[in-house]
Amino acid sequence: MADFFSLGIETSCDETSASVVCNGRKILSNVVSSSLKEHSKYGGVVPEIACRAQLETISIVVEKAIKDAGINKSELNLIAVTYGPGLVGALLIGISFAKGLSISLNVPLIGVNHLQAHLYGNFFQRIKPEFPYLGLVISGGHTNLVWMKSFVNCKILGETTDDAVGETFDKVARILGLGYPGGPVIEKKAAQAHGDKINFYKSSDSESLNFSFSGLKTAVLYYVKKNPAPVSAVAKRFQSAVGDILILRTRNAIHITKAKQLVLGGGVSVNSYLRKRFADMAREEKVKLFLPDVRLCLDNGAMVAGLGYQLFLKGYTSGIDLSAVPDLEISKVR
Ligand code: KG4
Ligand code: ZN
Repeated sequence: MADFFSLGIETSCDETSASVVCNGRKILSNVVSSSLKEHSKYGGVVPEIACRAQLETISIVVEKAIKDAGINKSELNLIAVTYGPGLVGALLIGISFAKGLSISLNVPLIGVNHLQAHLYGNFFQRIKPEFPYLGLVISGGHTNLVWMKSFVNCKILGETTDDAVGETFDKVARILGLGYPGGPVIEKKAAQAHGDKINFYKSSDSESLNFSFSGLKTAVLYYVKKNPAPVSAVAKRFQSAVGDILILRTRNAIHITKAKQLVLGGGVSVNSYLRKRFADMAREEKVKLFLPDVRLCLDNGAMVAGLGYQLFLKGYTSGIDLSAVPDLEISKVR
């Protein structure tokens, strides 16, 4: 069979990314441009800034992805694009661009769920997950435990009742005066802490599959108001408490589903401390753990191109009426 080239476009938040993937598994190019630094002084993503950056870079990023892949535009077989969840304006820029390409090249268009795409980041590995599996998406806007039966059949088992994990990293970084994005800087600070043992939070031994992070965030806020502890020590305790919450709920889900495989995805899964916690827990629970390559944890076009290909194989395509769905749930395909 001839090779099938899918182009993936991702513009759901502050990254503009495009990638060409061959047969859903081989990444030929993956170009990522980020407006991250421009948001830093505001302590979070400013939608207007993100959208302007998307508009300015989208055509350059797509052209480069096609060039880096060493193919000609006319060889593309499918245009895949994230259609939600995300910032509506940012999503629409990617969707409009994808539609234009699909029409001008006369190739099919497919809208892809960003959260499912994060889990697809694991399918580029030599050994890939087998359905059904337990998925955990930990990103800036979402915290979802899901039972994945196939690329098109997914059931939500648990979600956050307040803030998402990545959002909590970002808010705590703001409390600690560390800027945006919070994840990388908190991880770095935590690694610098030695000896300072502080404790300001006790996680509950809940049997629930739902997550809650706002209590932890508030505990950090009150602790630093009253105690002159080193930032590194607070960051370390915070990060370990995030690990406790994530591991407890995921362990509950493993017991309930009797899952044999656990698949992680989303920006927070790049965190090496959390990766180690999950590796330890997976060993104890005798489940096979899949972690995306660190280059595929944050938002990227490859995961969109790859999942788009799989959906296309299952007979899915999108019409020219494809629109952004900012609050799209992980369980929805189309
Ligand atoms: O998946 P992603 O790129 O965007 C969304 O889909 O939301 O995730 C971004 C989130 C941000 O909240 C950021 O703080 C977090 O991922 N993040 C991290 C790390 N690097 C990025 N969280 C913890 N540790 C990190 N090293
Ligand atoms: Zn994401």
